[in-house]
Amino acid sequence: MGSGECSYGLAYLLLNNRLDYFWVLLIFATLSELCVALSATRTIHTKYGDISGVIVTPDNRHLDAVEVFKGIPYASPPVGSLRFMPPVTGALWSGVKVADRFSPVCPQRLPDISNETLALKKMPRGRLEYLKRLLPYLKNQSEDCLYLNIYAPAQEEEEENKRKEEEEEEEKEEEGKEEEEEEVEEMKEKEEEEEDEEEGEKEKEKEREEK
Ligand SMILES: *[C@@H]1O[C@H](CO)[C@@H](O)[C@H](O)[C@H]1NC(C)=O
Ligand SMILES: *[C@@H]1O[C@H](CO)[C@@H](O)[C@H](O)[C@H]1NC(C)=O
Repeated sequence: MGSGECSYGLAYLLLNNRLDYFWVLLIFATLSELCVALSATRTIHTKYGDISGVIVTPDNRHLDAVEVFKGIPYASPPVGSLRFMPPVTGALWSGVKVADRFSPVCPQRLPDISNETLALKKMPRGRLEYLKRLLPYLKNQSEDCLYLNIYAPAQEEEEENKRKEEEEEEEKEEEGKEEEEEEVEEMKEKEEEEEDEEEGEKEKEKEREEK
Protein backbone atom coordinates (compact mmCIF):
# COMPACT_ATOMS: atom_id res chain seq x y z
CA MET A 1 0.00 0.00 0.00
CA GLY A 2 1.57 3.30 -1.06
CA SER A 3 1.05 6.58 0.75
CA GLY A 4 -1.44 7.57 -1.99
CA GLU A 5 -3.70 4.71 -1.10
CA CYS A 6 -3.31 5.57 2.56
CA SER A 7 -4.49 9.12 1.89
CA TYR A 8 -7.49 7.80 -0.04
CA GLY A 9 -8.36 5.58 2.88
CA LEU A 10 -8.18 8.53 5.24
CA ALA A 11 -10.26 10.77 2.96
CA TYR A 12 -12.88 8.03 2.77
CA LEU A 13 -12.97 7.77 6.54
CA LEU A 14 -13.29 11.55 6.92
CA LEU A 15 -16.08 11.82 4.36
CA ASN A 16 -18.12 8.95 5.65
CA ASN A 17 -17.50 8.96 9.33
CA ARG A 18 -19.59 10.28 12.09
CA LEU A 19 -16.88 9.60 14.61
CA ASP A 20 -15.82 12.44 16.82
CA TYR A 21 -12.65 14.42 16.39
CA PHE A 22 -10.61 12.34 18.81
CA TRP A 23 -11.15 9.17 16.85
CA VAL A 24 -10.32 10.88 13.57
CA LEU A 25 -7.00 12.04 15.03
CA LEU A 26 -6.29 8.60 16.41
CA ILE A 27 -7.03 6.95 13.07
CA PHE A 28 -4.86 9.48 11.26
CA ALA A 29 -1.94 8.78 13.58
CA THR A 30 -2.34 5.03 13.15
CA LEU A 31 -2.70 5.23 9.37
CA SER A 32 0.29 7.48 8.82
CA GLU A 33 2.44 5.21 10.96
CA LEU A 34 1.28 2.24 8.90
CA CYS A 35 2.08 4.03 5.62
CA VAL A 36 5.63 4.84 6.66
CA ALA A 37 6.19 1.29 7.80
CA LEU A 38 4.92 -0.11 4.51
CA SER A 39 6.98 2.07 2.17
CA ALA A 40 10.30 1.43 3.94
CA THR A 41 12.21 -1.74 3.06
CA ARG A 42 13.58 -4.22 5.51
CA THR A 43 16.88 -3.52 7.24
CA ILE A 44 19.73 -5.87 6.39
CA HIS A 45 22.44 -6.48 8.95
CA THR A 46 25.94 -6.81 7.49
CA LYS A 47 29.18 -7.12 9.36
CA TYR A 48 30.00 -3.52 8.39
CA GLY A 49 26.65 -2.07 9.46
CA ASP A 50 22.95 -2.01 8.68
CA ILE A 51 21.56 -1.07 5.27
CA SER A 52 18.15 -0.60 3.77
CA GLY A 53 17.31 -0.41 0.08
CA VAL A 54 14.46 0.81 -2.08
CA ILE A 55 11.68 -1.19 -3.70
CA VAL A 56 11.49 -0.58 -7.44
CA THR A 57 8.43 -1.67 -9.37
CA PRO A 58 9.25 -2.02 -13.08
CA ASP A 59 6.83 -0.34 -15.47
CA ASN A 60 6.01 -3.72 -16.97
CA ARG A 61 3.43 -6.14 -15.65
CA HIS A 62 5.60 -9.14 -16.59
CA LEU A 63 8.32 -8.06 -14.20
CA ASP A 64 8.10 -8.35 -10.44
CA ALA A 65 9.22 -5.67 -8.01
CA VAL A 66 12.85 -5.72 -6.95
CA GLU A 67 14.56 -4.50 -3.85
CA VAL A 68 17.56 -2.43 -4.88
CA PHE A 69 20.60 -1.64 -2.77
CA LYS A 70 22.82 0.89 -4.52
CA GLY A 71 26.36 1.86 -3.64
CA ILE A 72 27.18 -0.49 -0.78
CA PRO A 73 30.84 0.09 0.17
CA TYR A 74 32.77 -3.17 0.35
CA ALA A 75 36.28 -1.84 0.96
CA SER A 76 37.99 1.35 2.06
CA PRO A 77 38.23 3.95 -0.73
CA PRO A 78 41.51 3.13 -2.56
CA VAL A 79 42.78 6.69 -2.40
CA GLY A 80 45.81 8.35 -0.82
CA SER A 81 48.13 5.76 0.69
CA LEU A 82 45.75 2.96 -0.38
CA ARG A 83 46.09 3.80 -4.09
CA PHE A 84 47.13 0.73 -6.13
CA MET A 85 47.12 -1.38 -2.95
CA PRO A 86 45.06 -4.55 -2.44
CA PRO A 87 41.56 -3.72 -1.12
CA VAL A 88 41.38 -2.99 2.60
CA THR A 89 38.37 -3.93 4.70
CA GLY A 90 35.92 -1.08 4.79
CA ALA A 91 35.15 1.10 7.78
CA LEU A 92 32.16 0.19 9.93
CA TRP A 93 29.24 2.56 9.98
CA SER A 94 26.63 3.11 12.63
CA GLY A 95 22.93 3.53 12.04
CA VAL A 96 21.14 2.37 8.93
CA LYS A 97 22.75 3.32 5.62
CA VAL A 98 20.07 4.01 3.03
CA ALA A 99 21.52 2.46 -0.14
CA ASP A 100 19.44 4.48 -2.58
CA ARG A 101 22.01 6.06 -4.94
CA PHE A 102 24.76 4.83 -7.22
CA SER A 103 28.34 5.56 -6.33
CA PRO A 104 30.93 6.64 -8.89
CA VAL A 105 32.29 4.00 -11.26
CA CYS A 106 36.01 3.43 -11.72
CA PRO A 107 37.79 5.76 -14.16
CA GLN A 108 37.40 4.53 -17.74
CA ARG A 109 37.28 5.94 -21.25
CA LEU A 110 33.78 5.71 -22.67
CA PRO A 111 33.19 5.04 -26.37
CA ASP A 112 32.17 8.16 -28.27
CA ILE A 113 28.72 7.63 -29.71
CA SER A 114 27.85 11.29 -30.24
CA ASN A 115 27.95 10.78 -34.02
CA GLU A 116 25.68 7.80 -34.64
CA THR A 117 26.65 7.41 -38.27
CA LEU A 118 30.27 7.22 -37.29
CA ALA A 119 29.56 4.93 -34.32
CA LEU A 120 27.59 2.50 -36.50
CA LYS A 121 30.66 2.04 -38.69
CA LYS A 122 32.45 0.59 -35.63
CA MET A 123 29.65 -1.38 -33.91
CA PRO A 124 26.32 -3.09 -34.59
CA ARG A 125 23.10 -1.16 -33.81
CA GLY A 126 22.32 -3.44 -30.85
CA ARG A 127 25.52 -2.40 -29.12
CA LEU A 128 24.90 1.24 -29.89
CA GLU A 129 21.43 1.08 -28.33
CA TYR A 130 22.86 -0.70 -25.30
CA LEU A 131 25.58 1.93 -24.88
CA LYS A 132 22.99 4.70 -25.14
CA ARG A 133 21.22 3.21 -22.13
CA LEU A 134 24.39 2.41 -20.22
CA LEU A 135 26.62 5.47 -20.64
CA PRO A 136 24.59 7.87 -18.48
CA TYR A 137 25.36 5.59 -15.52
CA LEU A 138 29.11 5.64 -16.22
CA LYS A 139 29.56 9.42 -16.27
CA ASN A 140 30.28 9.78 -12.57
CA GLN A 141 33.81 8.38 -12.31
CA SER A 142 36.21 8.33 -9.40
CA GLU A 143 39.04 6.30 -7.93
CA ASP A 144 36.71 5.91 -4.95
CA CYS A 145 34.64 3.27 -6.72
CA LEU A 146 34.61 0.10 -4.61
CA TYR A 147 30.85 -0.18 -4.21
CA LEU A 148 28.33 -2.90 -4.94
CA ASN A 149 24.82 -2.63 -6.33
CA ILE A 150 22.58 -5.52 -5.34
CA TYR A 151 19.21 -6.36 -6.88
CA ALA A 152 17.01 -8.90 -5.10
CA PRO A 153 13.40 -10.00 -5.60
CA ALA A 154 11.23 -7.76 -3.43
CA GLN A 155 9.98 -9.63 -0.41
CA GLU A 156 6.41 -9.28 0.64
CA GLU A 157 7.43 -8.53 4.18
CA GLU A 158 3.91 -7.70 5.20
CA GLU A 159 2.55 -11.00 3.91
CA GLU A 160 5.43 -12.93 5.40
CA ASN A 161 4.89 -11.38 8.82
CA LYS A 162 1.19 -12.12 8.59
CA ARG A 163 1.85 -15.73 7.67
CA LYS A 164 4.31 -16.12 10.55
CA GLU A 165 1.80 -14.64 12.98
CA GLU A 166 -0.92 -16.95 11.73
CA GLU A 167 1.36 -19.96 12.04
CA GLU A 168 2.28 -18.99 15.58
CA GLU A 169 -1.37 -18.53 16.49
CA GLU A 170 -2.24 -21.91 15.04
CA GLU A 171 0.54 -23.51 17.04
CA LYS A 172 -0.69 -21.83 20.18
CA GLU A 173 -4.25 -22.95 19.49
CA GLU A 174 -3.10 -26.50 18.96
CA GLU A 175 -1.10 -26.42 22.16
CA GLY A 176 -4.15 -25.05 23.95
CA LYS A 177 -6.29 -27.86 22.53
CA GLU A 178 -3.79 -30.47 23.59
CA GLU A 179 -3.68 -29.02 27.08
CA GLU A 180 -7.48 -29.00 27.21
CA GLU A 181 -7.60 -32.58 26.04
CA GLU A 182 -5.07 -33.56 28.69
CA GLU A 183 -7.12 -31.79 31.35
CA VAL A 184 -10.31 -33.53 30.20
CA GLU A 185 -8.55 -36.91 30.33
CA GLU A 186 -7.21 -36.21 33.81
CA MET A 187 -10.66 -35.24 34.99
CA LYS A 188 -12.14 -38.40 33.50
CA GLU A 189 -9.50 -40.50 35.23
CA LYS A 190 -10.22 -38.80 38.54
CA GLU A 191 -13.94 -39.34 38.13
CA GLU A 192 -13.37 -42.99 37.33
CA GLU A 193 -11.14 -43.37 40.38
CA GLU A 194 -13.76 -41.72 42.55
CA GLU A 195 -16.44 -43.96 41.08
CA ASP A 196 -14.28 -47.00 41.76
CA GLU A 197 -13.77 -45.86 45.34
CA GLU A 198 -17.49 -45.29 45.77
CA GLU A 199 -18.30 -48.69 44.36
CA GLY A 200 -15.72 -50.29 46.62
CA GLU A 201 -17.26 -48.64 49.65
CA LYS A 202 -20.74 -49.68 48.56
CA GLU A 203 -19.58 -53.25 48.23
CA LYS A 204 -17.98 -53.10 51.68
CA GLU A 205 -21.24 -51.76 53.12
CA LYS A 206 -23.16 -54.60 51.46
CA GLU A 207 -20.70 -57.09 52.90
CA ARG A 208 -21.20 -55.57 56.35
CA GLU A 209 -24.99 -55.64 55.98
CA GLU A 210 -24.87 -59.26 54.91
CA LYS A 211 -22.87 -60.08 57.99
C1 LIG B 1 28.88 11.50 -8.25
O1 LIG B 1 29.26 10.80 -7.08
C2 LIG B 1 29.49 11.62 -5.94
C3 LIG B 1 29.98 10.74 -4.82
O2 LIG B 1 29.07 9.73 -4.49
C4 LIG B 1 28.20 12.33 -5.59
O3 LIG B 1 28.40 13.18 -4.49
C5 LIG B 1 27.73 13.14 -6.79
O4 LIG B 1 26.48 13.71 -6.50
C6 LIG B 1 27.61 12.27 -8.03
N1 LIG B 1 27.30 13.10 -9.17
C7 LIG B 1 26.35 12.78 -10.04
C8 LIG B 1 26.17 13.70 -11.21
O5 LIG B 1 25.67 11.79 -9.92
C1 LIG C 1 29.09 12.06 -38.52
O1 LIG C 1 30.08 11.31 -39.17
C2 LIG C 1 29.91 11.19 -40.56
C3 LIG C 1 30.91 10.19 -41.10
O2 LIG C 1 32.22 10.53 -40.72
C4 LIG C 1 30.05 12.60 -41.18
O3 LIG C 1 29.89 12.54 -42.55
C5 LIG C 1 28.99 13.50 -40.54
O4 LIG C 1 29.16 14.83 -40.99
C6 LIG C 1 29.09 13.49 -39.04
N1 LIG C 1 27.92 14.20 -38.48
C7 LIG C 1 28.06 15.17 -37.59
C8 LIG C 1 26.78 15.77 -37.09
O5 LIG C 1 29.14 15.55 -37.17
